[in-house]
Amino acid sequence: MEAAQRTHEQAKLWNGSAGCAWVEAQALLDRILQPFEEILVEAVCASGARSVLDVGCGTGSTARAVARSLGAKSCPVGVDISEQMIATARMLAEQERVPAKFICADAQTHSFAPASFDMIMSRFGVMFFADPVRAFANLRNAASKEATLCFVAWRNPAENRFMTTAKRAAASLLPNLPARRADAPGQFGFADARRVQSILAASGWTYIDIQPIDVTCTLPESELSRYAARLGPVGLALREVDPRTRDQVVAVVREAFEPYVHGDEVRFTACCWRVDARR
Ligand SMILES: C[S@@+](CC[C@H](N)C(=O)[O-])C[C@H]1O[C@@H](n2cnc3c(N)ncnc32)[C@H](O)[C@@H]1O
Repeated sequence: MEAAQRTHEQAKLWNGSAGCAWVEAQALLDRILQPFEEILVEAVCASGARSVLDVGCGTGSTARAVARSLGAKSCPVGVDISEQMIATARMLAEQERVPAKFICADAQTHSFAPASFDMIMSRFGVMFFADPVRAFANLRNAASKEATLCFVAWRNPAENRFMTTAKRAAASLLPNLPARRADAPGQFGFADARRVQSILAASGWTYIDIQPIDVTCTLPESELSRYAARLGPVGLALREVDPRTRDQVVAVVREAFEPYVHGDEVRFTACCWRVDARR
């Protein structure tokens, strides 16, 4: 598939059903992914960066967290391709009165001011590029001479069984769920560390360090069905099915998540890469 077509698909998805699902579940997702926010804020603070770009910032939680941490001396910028997610990010920053700015644009091609950021970070926002070398070269151009890059991305689905539970459980009821294409833009697009290394090297980044991190994430048990019914491929497919199939899928999926339920809490390990590099 052509890069232009893959870009169009991603833009359509994040400006459509996936964007809606992330906006609707914003507070829940930010709670689940909070440990990654802490990792990134710590990296920003350790680097001494003042001007920070949050790539694929979504509804802006990590950019707002950096703004709170750095205070008035900074104004982190979030960039995202999804209009509805950027609108939510702006609204939340205004409500919280934090100095963060948000741009709705494709990070692969947007004309950032050259050398304008001394840290480029992302929480799961860089695996969706149709042309990742071009994207990371564009981001590098936006990075100042001493700038660093720090992002987190998922390792492979076999290690992240929680993330594939719903799809496996619902497979017989939803036979048209999309098959995963290795290395294609998507949640697990950066599962292969060697590929990530070569993308970053080809786009000019240096001192590339890719480390596995296993992070415990939690959510309230009371939110589990809502989570499974809205997000991921099953959540997206459920938007299109009849109420009876929907109820069946929700029941089967909820049952499949049982091993992760501990009283009123759901707990899983997110098996990810932490990637650091220098301009
Ligand atoms: C899995 S979400 C993560 C959102 C956010 N970083 C978070 O942790 O809540 C991935 C985000 O990447 C964004 N995205 C995908 N392709 C993009 C692109 N080419 N340029 C900018 N953002 C993009 C999506 O719109 C989505 O908000």
